[in-house]
Amino acid sequence: MKKVITYGSFDLFHEGHYNLLKRAKALGDYLIVGVTTEQYDESRGKLNIVDSLDKRIENVRRTGFADEIIVEDHPGQKVEDVQKYGIDIFTVGSDWIGCFEHMREFCEVVYLERTKNISSTIIRSQGYQLIRIGVIGTGRIAVRFVPEAKYVSGVLVNSVYNPNLAGAKDFGTKFELDVATDNLEEFFEKIDAVYVASPHETHYEYVKKALEHDKHVLCEKPLAFQKAQAEELFALARQKDRILLEAIKTAYCPGFVQMMGIAKSGIIGKVCDVEACFTRLTDKGLRERTDLEYGGGFTEFGSHTLLPIMKLMGTDYKEVRFDSIKDTNGLDLYTKASFVYENGMALSKSGVGVKSEGQLLISGTNGYILAESPWWLTQYFEVRFEDPSKKERYFSKFLGQGLRYEISDFAYMIHGHQGRSYKFTQEESIAIAGVMEKFLEKRKRGE
Ligand code: CTP
Repeated sequence: MKKVITYGSFDLFHEGHYNLLKRAKALGDYLIVGVTTEQYDESRGKLNIVDSLDKRIENVRRTGFADEIIVEDHPGQKVEDVQKYGIDIFTVGSDWIGCFEHMREFCEVVYLERTKNISSTIIRSQGYQLIRIGVIGTGRIAVRFVPEAKYVSGVLVNSVYNPNLAGAKDFGTKFELDVATDNLEEFFEKIDAVYVASPHETHYEYVKKALEHDKHVLCEKPLAFQKAQAEELFALARQKDRILLEAIKTAYCPGFVQMMGIAKSGIIGKVCDVEACFTRLTDKGLRERTDLEYGGGFTEFGSHTLLPIMKLMGTDYKEVRFDSIKDTNGLDLYTKASFVYENGMALSKSGVGVKSEGQLLISGTNGYILAESPWWLTQYFEVRFEDPSKKERYFSKFLGQGLRYEISDFAYMIHGHQGRSYKFTQEESIAIAGVMEKFLEKRKRGE
């Protein structure tokens, strides 16, 4: 019996897939089809898979060509499968010519002619209108955003706004954007969505204006410095039927999502304590060290450290206490925010003038998770137990600057798909704004 194997995402199942499976089956007597998991696709940069794994498997099954369907979830699996299943022929479409020569060591490799003018990518772009994004602000993070957006199919950054026209023009020229303006009305004209990357204290106003103009909004952290403002913005987004998402990139990156899943899975027992630290020594002349109202370590990096705390311990803390080491101008160089929960506790450490070990430590009744710096760009973490020999190591890809994950999820939600909003919920976003508010109130009181 001649055994054949082929692999694919088989997203939005189309004629090209059907033809390929038919030809693959005709190569032998028994066809095995490997369907990729969403996580594996994400890790190799395919961020836009629409159909769930079971739907994609079901579509392959319905063709009747597959004698067996397996799931592909890691690099190197093809080599393993070919040996494990005793495969005679490995086959894929002709778009892969030359990519699988290494498989010839194990079996015959056949590149089948690809069906012309059809692909999942084409269907995705036809099914949905292109999302045109305008950027508000031209600072450090905005500069990283535009190249990252190019990795997400179906989105196009075409406009920029800055109240300083020269700044907008420079940015527009650098990234070849259609619109570079200091006029908000003009800015809103040719876009469907806005990425807010302006100074922190301006986020609330810009988000509100964008929603009032019926735009979807991805807003850099922190969304707002007051709980009521964050609530108001999410209520407005609901009323306008638009997506509003706070851009803490960590929340959307695959390694962090996996770490949260494992923490909540019971492997380490009940989570009792979360300690998160993020510090970066920052130049004295920069906004973080000079803006007396909104500068300082906690407003700068607190969103990062509060994220795993809110996700794992919940938003319903009983008490929060802030202790800071301050600069001569009153801004916090280093802040500890300690939370007390009904059955647990948490600690956030953030700083711009004190350096510490940037780690995330999640303690449970059976064991703990340790993610070392930079845990906020999660690529690696360990699950440890009383018995050191039981230690488990988890690795994950973090591509580029990592902004592509939040952009992909933003686009996915705009297209009306459900299922990714759990990564960072409105409730968590609102709770973080509430903590920021308490911290700034304390600062105002001069404490
Ligand atoms: N395939 C094909 N003809 C097409 C499209 C895909 O023969 N027009 C083949 C691919 O070469 C691969 C298999 O179908 O062997 C699964 O491909 P997959 O990557 O899932 O589909 P694409 O439509 O190419 O997906 P995307 O656009 O997301 O890359």
